[in-house]
Amino acid sequence: SPPAIIAPSILSADFAALGDAVDSVFNKWGSDWVHVDIMDGHFVPNLTFGAPVVTKIRSRVPKPSEPLGKRTFDCHMMIAEPHKWVTEFKNAGCDLYCFHYEAAISSTAADSPSATSDKKTSPKELIKYIHSKGMKAGIAIKPKTPVNVLWDILESPNADERPEMVLVMTVEPGFGGQSFMASELPKVTELRKRYPDMHIEVDGGLSEKTIDQAADAGANVIVAGSAVFGASDPGQVVKALRNAVDK
Ligand code: DX5
Ligand code: ZN
Repeated sequence: SPPAIIAPSILSADFAALGDAVDSVFNKWGSDWVHVDIMDGHFVPNLTFGAPVVTKIRSRVPKPSEPLGKRTFDCHMMIAEPHKWVTEFKNAGCDLYCFHYEAAISSTAADSPSATSDKKTSPKELIKYIHSKGMKAGIAIKPKTPVNVLWDILESPNADERPEMVLVMTVEPGFGGQSFMASELPKVTELRKRYPDMHIEVDGGLSEKTIDQAADAGANVIVAGSAVFGASDPGQVVKALRNAVDK
């Protein structure tokens, strides 16, 4: 697997001090990426924040000096109609736009009253569009979605239509602090077998207790919200998660 990438989720931070949280994530705790959960109260039963907030927190830390390098903003888009927000999040400073497969396949042309060039429906078209805006693309699947829906996308002959990362959710998206679902790990194993060099992210319930299972399955991008922000020594948790993946 590629080297460990630890991405604390600011969903578990104090929302009144998000800028300080991002500063700590990189400058105190030595994390690689920051995971930014965007929820629309529609695709998931919860709301967080949108592009104006991302713009502000992005301004607190420099952009990565290489694609997907240190300080990557990993935006997990738990939103319906993910094609509609690509430009807005690009302008906000998002580096990796990770949309949900389930949201992309249920977006239809009728969803867009002003059907313009922003109108993208299929996952492959959406990935191509994200790339055309200068971001890397990720595709996420919820626990009830089988991994085999991804093969057609990952095997696209057009490199522009292939994502840089797959996110396997290990909880139902919507809230931090839920229990890790080990039942999702066979998806990670299968993905890693087929794609030895791809970024595979796990999100939900990751901690020092569950990291070994996820790492053994082949995950290399590790999201952790409550385990990091709830720790007395978050930097130590970031280090422990990294060591478990790189061992
Ligand atoms: C859940 C979010 C996660 C969340 C994880 O819908 O996608 O990123 O922050 O939180 P923990 O690590 O506490 O399970
Ligand atoms: Zn997330």
